[in-house]
Amino acid sequence: MDKKNKRIAIFGANGTIGRALLAHYQNESHVYAFSRNDFDARNSNSDKILLGDYNDETLARTASAYEDNSFDKIFICIGMLHNSDFMPEKRIEDFSKLQFMKTMESNALVPALIAKNFYKKLKRNEKSILAFLSARVGSISDNRKGGWYSYRTSKAALNMLVKNLSIELGRNNKRLVVIGLHPGTVDSPLTQPFQKNLEGSKIFSADFSVLKLSSVIDSLSVESSGKCIDWEGKVIFP
Ligand SMILES: NC(=O)c1ccc[n+]([C@@H]2O[C@H](COP(=O)([O-])OP(=O)(O)OC[C@H]3O[C@@H](n4cnc5c(N)ncnc54)[C@H](OP(=O)(O)O)[C@@H]3O)[C@@H](O)[C@H]2O)c1
Repeated sequence: MDKKNKRIAIFGANGTIGRALLAHYQNESHVYAFSRNDFDARNSNSDKILLGDYNDETLARTASAYEDNSFDKIFICIGMLHNSDFMPEKRIEDFSKLQFMKTMESNALVPALIAKNFYKKLKRNEKSILAFLSARVGSISDNRKGGWYSYRTSKAALNMLVKNLSIELGRNNKRLVVIGLHPGTVDSPLTQPFQKNLEGSKIFSADFSVLKLSSVIDSLSVESSGKCIDWEGKVIFP
């Protein structure tokens, strides 16, 4: 099959990891790059789709433009750790309703709405991938430091979404792999305020992380569906 017959959808294509995925896959696949805001895609010949927002109605209208069984892979690269109004909580006194709601919206609610409106667009007659950018800090068993209440909780919720989708969607699509991905610590606006606490060697470029993640994804089978795995292909336990 001509590789350009492969179709990949990337949501949050204007983010750091989203743009690296776009650059990686555009040579071998037709990429549909979805984002809220316009962005400069590196030499991209992909389709850029600007949504303005990720509300249910907007997503339903957008999805209706695509036939069922269209995409080989869907990546959801949306997420938030901090913004101009708040940083991740160090202690429970820092916790606020607004921060929690905004973080849950970005990391769990919007990914769920995208899955709801787009899962039928994934191929059923061959292996297909529904991948969510999660994070190791969403693991409950791996939590030794505490803190980051909203982010940790939202990524744990996302991991439950991944598991639930793998069960429900897997009933009718036996070749579908639903997966959470931990990209490592990647140089991006999301990690920028925390990079001084890490040695340089522990911070990946987005291109390096995506290279690793893409080979992990190629090796996945349906037995992995519902799990969260890291850039090395190692399972992160809930
Ligand atoms: N970087 C890391 O080291 C790291 C580590 C673990 C996990 N992750 C996960 O990887 C994903 C991508 O991270 P990144 O480093 O590429 O971050 P980034 O460069 O800050 O990109 C974040 C993306 O999320 C979108 N976004 C944020 N809040 C949104 C909302 N409420 N609704 C819709 N879109 C929203 C942004 O869109 P706009 O530009 O339109 O706001 C942007 O496309 C995130 O889920 C993050 O949690 C990253």
